[in-house]
Amino acid sequence: MTARWSSRVLAANVATRNGFSAVKRYVSQEAYQNLLMSTPKPGVALITLNRPKSYNAMSSAFMAEINSAFQSVEKDKSIGAMVITGNEKAFIAGADIKEMKDLTFSNAYGEDFIEPWSLQVSQIKKPIIVAVNGYALGGGCELAMMADIIYCSAGATFGQPEIKLGIIPGAGGSQRLTKVIGKSRAMELILTGKNFSGREAFDWGLAARVFETPQQCVDGAVDTAALIASYSRIAVKACKEVVNKSQDLGIREGVEFERRVFHGLFGSKDQKIGMKAFAEKQTPKWEHQ
Ligand code: CAA
Repeated sequence: MTARWSSRVLAANVATRNGFSAVKRYVSQEAYQNLLMSTPKPGVALITLNRPKSYNAMSSAFMAEINSAFQSVEKDKSIGAMVITGNEKAFIAGADIKEMKDLTFSNAYGEDFIEPWSLQVSQIKKPIIVAVNGYALGGGCELAMMADIIYCSAGATFGQPEIKLGIIPGAGGSQRLTKVIGKSRAMELILTGKNFSGREAFDWGLAARVFETPQQCVDGAVDTAALIASYSRIAVKACKEVVNKSQDLGIREGVEFERRVFHGLFGSKDQKIGMKAFAEKQTPKWEHQ
């Protein structure tokens, strides 16, 4: 099935199927088997993972849907930022073990198992905020770490438990977790397969914010996405690009890269709009150019 995200608004204020109810939702046309798409605030796409019976375990088809949703939101000019969440029990409990169990080395290596999914997610240019409640294990923890901002509830459960299955993290877990929380802690978690809580994720700098309840977590993520979406899309895109470069470049090259992009923004319409509005004590009306 071709899954397509349409920004066409169909209905307002509907009851949700994922346990969260307070956010007012404007549900878009749905053509996904395991995703719910909505625009809870102007400029914000909310992607809710909806494979509850298997705790949102990622089968190949589910991964393809997630990629397709990301690509559709990326192309949608009405959207400035996106939030991805699961339900109260699970963000994502990892790659689908039942589907993966009979995979052979030649299939995995020959067909680049997991690679298209993890590469495509990390190449999305619009900001992605994950709102993590429940389990974010294996590929779920890895997806959270591919995103730009992690919000979680205190009771969320993160982990890279692959060692218990006789494998290792396969979608960047060993690299991204180590960069953020340090080698000793990451090594302990990956070698023991022990989980860590949302509170610990926040204390260790993995999550930007921690919330008491799952609902507050989703609402907080949507609010932040709406704020980001209210700014110039050109400036937002450039902010994300320069921050991400810091992960790959040394400080000197990184600062030089930042300065080039900064200089380039003086060629944008939105720079003129933003600075003129400030000087005239007006609110800027961005043209996203
Ligand atoms: N794959 C497939 N099915 C899964 C799954 C997964 N990753 N995680 C949960 N499920 C399924 C269970 O099989 C179960 O289905 P049935 O009702 O048909 O039996 C259902 O979801 C509910 O799970 P449990 O009954 O186990 O629920 P629980 O509350 O007792 O435990 C859990 C929840 C701790 C998440 C446990 O299900 C679990 O440990 N899941 C596996 C987590 C894991 O190992 N993830 C890493 C996968 S490997 C990976 O992701 C590699 C990579 O780097 C990309």
